[in-house]
Amino acid sequence: MSTVIETKDLCKTYIVDKQSNNVLQNVNLKVEEKEFVTVMGPSGSGKSTLLYTVSGMDTVTAGSVLFDGEELSSMKEKELINIRLLKMGFIFQQMYMMKKLSIIDNIILPGFQAKLKPRDEVRKDAENLMRKLEIIDTAEREITEVSGGQLQRACLCRALINNPKVLFADEPTGALNSKASKDVMQRLLEANRAGTTVLMVTHSEKVASISDRIIYLVDGGIKGELTLGKMAGDDEISIRERKVRSWLDEMGW
Ligand SMILES: Nc1ncnc2c1ncn2[C@@H]1O[C@H](COP(=O)(O)OP(=O)(O)OP(=O)(O)O)[C@@H](O)[C@H]1O
Ligand SMILES: [Mg+2]
Repeated sequence: MSTVIETKDLCKTYIVDKQSNNVLQNVNLKVEEKEFVTVMGPSGSGKSTLLYTVSGMDTVTAGSVLFDGEELSSMKEKELINIRLLKMGFIFQQMYMMKKLSIIDNIILPGFQAKLKPRDEVRKDAENLMRKLEIIDTAEREITEVSGGQLQRACLCRALINNPKVLFADEPTGALNSKASKDVMQRLLEANRAGTTVLMVTHSEKVASISDRIIYLVDGGIKGELTLGKMAGDDEISIRERKVRSWLDEMGW
């Protein structure tokens, strides 16, 4: 197995009103190819910042991030844009959808930009994903005409459209009810089983329990780690969830 993400003493400091805030402090994290890793921790502990920095969406203050063996900070912007388009999929807390495009056009846009498949195939793939996530009815609507939960699922469709090597998902079920959450979890597992590495943030014990490994972040540092291994069948989920819950208790969750 090869390492797809590796941080070495990753530090991120934000300066606001001349006050510096050390949001990530010497984070050493390794994610192997095809792994499904979850980041948990209190609000403000740096989880989103970690996702932003390891995906090259934001710069690091010190230390390094290797993505697929390449140092992100030494890449030119154009190279980075290309890697993001071809190798990464994103679901972030802020959804970054294009206001002037319909839901389906937002989903297929990175597919058209990547030019990996003919356009009609990209559209078919988008429709299939939307059907699985039960948002096909919203295809032609504008992004202001759908609910937060529908928008969140549309983001997942967009993130998967190029079959990314790595999927970054920041609270992908944050706005969803339990049925829609289940659909999202199913899609994440499916993508992971098909070879996509997943790095996800969640506050949900249930959602975390489908991952192979969980790391716990406190004040920008890794405080603990729980290895669950690959989930073999759906019937394992309640046992795994209990494991996660008791580990989180130990972590002071
Ligand atoms: N762009 C920014 N400029 C300044 N400070 C920031 C910025 N982004 C995040 N922060 C600060 O960094 C800290 C960590 O934020 P982050 O969003 O990574 O937390 P989080 O663990 O994802 O929290 P949550 O669970 O609430 O989403 C917070 O104190 C936040 O206020
Ligand atoms: Mg966050």
